[in-house]
Amino acid sequence: MSKLTGKVAIITGGGSGIGRAIAELFAAEGAHVHILDLNAAVGQTVVDYIVSLGGQAAAHACNVSNQAEVAAIVATIGKVDILVNNAGVAHVGNLEKCSEVDFERIFQVNVKGAYNALHAVIPVMKQHGGGAILNLASIAAVVGIADRFAYSMSKGAIYAMSMSVARDYIADNIRSNSISPARVHTPFVDGFISKNYPGQEAEMFEKLSQSQPIGRMAKPEEIARLALFLCSDDAGFITGNDYPIDGGFIKLNN
Ligand SMILES: NC(=O)c1ccc[n+]([C@@H]2O[C@H](COP(=O)([O-])OP(=O)(O)OC[C@H]3O[C@@H](n4cnc5c(N)ncnc54)[C@H](O)[C@@H]3O)[C@@H](O)[C@H]2O)c1
Repeated sequence: MSKLTGKVAIITGGGSGIGRAIAELFAAEGAHVHILDLNAAVGQTVVDYIVSLGGQAAAHACNVSNQAEVAAIVATIGKVDILVNNAGVAHVGNLEKCSEVDFERIFQVNVKGAYNALHAVIPVMKQHGGGAILNLASIAAVVGIADRFAYSMSKGAIYAMSMSVARDYIADNIRSNSISPARVHTPFVDGFISKNYPGQEAEMFEKLSQSQPIGRMAKPEEIARLALFLCSDDAGFITGNDYPIDGGFIKLNN
């Protein structure tokens, strides 16, 4: 029996990397997947792949920073059982290298984007008897990582947002948790390496791989399997928690 048969799942940023792996796995487990991605083309590519395998999926061009846009799309979907707040953007630099524009950009997508999706989806979940929420935080929420000022700030907010929602909606049968990955090999990581360390890409890739005591980055599929567990009924007793998935980054880096 598939774990998500009959469930409707919204995955923000589902066109690439971790979100893509989650969308594909959830669809393979029977969910009807809705991808909300700024990049409509990549969202549609994932949907085409899911449909080619017999799954159910739809892509929606959406900037999660725009509350009206998110609300309008969620209104067309109807029942929502699962929300994965995954869309996110990176910034490398300490506080002095973080301009107001950088700060706003990170905040608008990583924090306000998740709030917008929750704001639209929570009333729908309440109306339909509950649901499961999973937010993509990061080890950066709880560990002081060099040169990640704005990004860490945004992921700390995600961590707290998950807990707040878990507490306020527990009586509505809504579970809310977060995942905190260390480095995962996705276009997100390749993008910030090539942007911030031109000419040193291979060296930086190796350095970032070795910063996990396990000696490599995670694969997006590994994150997706934890996401599946937390969003399925198997995790029915789990709410208000964060799950590091980090190759030993938090506890074994000594
Ligand atoms: N890759 C890592 O090492 C890592 C580690 C910890 C946490 N995370 C978090 O996981 C999430 C996914 O990361 P990834 O590595 O798969 O990233 P990615 O860059 O591969 O994919 C992100 C997706 O989000 C979409 N997106 C960006 N801005 C958007 C917006 N305003 N509205 C809608 N969609 C938007 C992009 O188009 C893209 O499809 C992010 O929240 C990231 O912070 C990643």
